[in-house]
Amino acid sequence: MDSNFRHIQVEPEAQGFGARITGISIDKPLAAAVLREVKEAWARHSVVYFPDQPLSHTQLEAFTLQFGEFGVDPYIIPMEAHPHILELRREADEKAVNFGAQWHSDWSFQEQPPAGTILHSKITPPVGGDTLFADGYRAYDDLSETMKGLMNHLVAIHSASMPYGKNGLFAKETEARSMKIVVSEDADKTWPHPLVRVHPVTGRKSLYVSPVYTQGIQGLTHGESTSLLSYLYQHMVQDTYVYRHRWAPNMLTLWDNRCTLHNAEGGYDGHLRLMHRTTISGERPVGVAAV
Ligand code: SIN
Repeated sequence: MDSNFRHIQVEPEAQGFGARITGISIDKPLAAAVLREVKEAWARHSVVYFPDQPLSHTQLEAFTLQFGEFGVDPYIIPMEAHPHILELRREADEKAVNFGAQWHSDWSFQEQPPAGTILHSKITPPVGGDTLFADGYRAYDDLSETMKGLMNHLVAIHSASMPYGKNGLFAKETEARSMKIVVSEDADKTWPHPLVRVHPVTGRKSLYVSPVYTQGIQGLTHGESTSLLSYLYQHMVQDTYVYRHRWAPNMLTLWDNRCTLHNAEGGYDGHLRLMHRTTISGERPVGVAAV
């Protein structure tokens, strides 16, 4: 148990990344002191989850707004009457690859990507369907000083093109999908972000690239960029940096997109998985040179 908290119980996961929060109900607005502790636990552990918390759509929205404004969620049609909630639904007989099935940080192609994402589970499969989270802080901290020195000055180019572009993966999809995804030319736009991101709350440095949304590194040749990124991807998602999150119904998980990657595992064909997702707006990523 993390003994720094008075109003909530915080149990860190074994490798010190990710934590379970109990001792409170999140279906009503949190008292200021409780909210402060939840935010503190989130900053320390990057991924926090609250088991056994049934929530209506309105309660999920209200919980989200305690952490900031809603983020902007492009390319996916939200729930009717709830424009800030995405329903992540995969039917038992669905053959399309499950949504989010590759390492990424949510919407990193935006000028101001969401600081956090909240996922609330309604129906979870008896097997599979875990979400993996990778700790971008430790992946950065463990690089050699020479490598850090090089990374600190690099700028990566992010784009939604690979999944959501007119020639992207969803455009080419042949299997039926329950989620309504909109492919668009707009997805081919790019946005530069520092490859090493300084977290605005903790001040810690994290690697900020992903195989889904990072297209390359400014100023490097294609070969240099591809080699460096593939090294970083395999480095960032080594077991030692990964927390495997096992869901149960009515669990709310809040993760920090500024210092983590996540990857939704499949393995539950034949079973329905149903989740509701909101995002919390964020700031423009700041690099090492700017602080
Ligand atoms: C996502 O937001 O990338 C999906 C996560 C999940 O469904 O586990």
